[in-house]
Amino acid sequence: MHVPLRFEQADNAFWQNPYISKQLLEAHLSSNTEGASRSFAFIDKSIDFIQQIAPPKAYQKVLDLGCGPGLYSERLAKIGYKVTGIDFSENSIHYAKEQAKKLDFDIEYRYENYLQLNISNIYDLALLIYCDYGALAPEDRSKLLLNIWNSLKNGGQLLLDVFSQKKFDQFKEEQYWSFNENGGFWSKHSYVAIGRNLKYSDRVTLEQTTVVTDDKIETYNIWHQFFTRELLIEEVTAVGFTIKEIYDDVSGKNYTEGNQTIALLIEKNE
Ligand SMILES: C[S@@+](CC[C@H](N)C(=O)[O-])C[C@H]1O[C@@H](n2cnc3c(N)ncnc32)[C@H](O)[C@@H]1O
Repeated sequence: MHVPLRFEQADNAFWQNPYISKQLLEAHLSSNTEGASRSFAFIDKSIDFIQQIAPPKAYQKVLDLGCGPGLYSERLAKIGYKVTGIDFSENSIHYAKEQAKKLDFDIEYRYENYLQLNISNIYDLALLIYCDYGALAPEDRSKLLLNIWNSLKNGGQLLLDVFSQKKFDQFKEEQYWSFNENGGFWSKHSYVAIGRNLKYSDRVTLEQTTVVTDDKIETYNIWHQFFTRELLIEEVTAVGFTIKEIYDDVSGKNYTEGNQTIALLIEKNE
């Protein structure tokens, strides 16, 4: 099997596979694990922080990009923001819509790819939370930043986080396999999973899993770009954003350089 080029896509979509997206929804909704969303305790802290830096009176309209089942969107709606959540996982958006109906939240959920977002001058605040930015290839990162820029009003802000150099240093190259006779995360059928974690130069990693069932073989590539503060600032300022503040994470922890994530608050100024 060849070593893939950086950000080469396998044939199979991780977030959108109907079976895997059910496992991911469970992971989002498990309050203490950090597989697909952070712990609920962290999310609550993060919401307090967002409320401080962008109070709902001044930053009414929020765009939650990659909202998943709406863990941030719901909490923001509850404290007075007018929220639009976008996600391309049909399963997560379906769940989010059902929850909003049940809890009577006026949230607009859109089942959409944010790389194809076409919105102009509507939002006061955009969120791209849990390091989704680094999962994108360089050309998609600049496309997404441009889409967000267009969607924001002048003076609108974006809060995003990425994995840091520290996390890249801790990433270990390895190879592994497992038998899953009763099915598991990757398939409901009995399968063998063969995995390899590869480290590339320029802070890129690949977590590749090949899933072998009785009748097919499917490969999933999960890419990640890790960032130094300088690289992140270079990418966002290239699109025109102004840096407002840098933090260790999206709960507003002071920047230390030694954390596994970096969060940036940036602003559109025309
Ligand atoms: C790591 S989860 C984070 C979910 C949420 N932001 C949170 O912190 O709870 C990433 C989410 O982004 C969504 N996503 C990834 N790429 C996307 C794209 N191109 N368009 C829309 N949603 C996307 C996935 O379906 C998934 O729900």
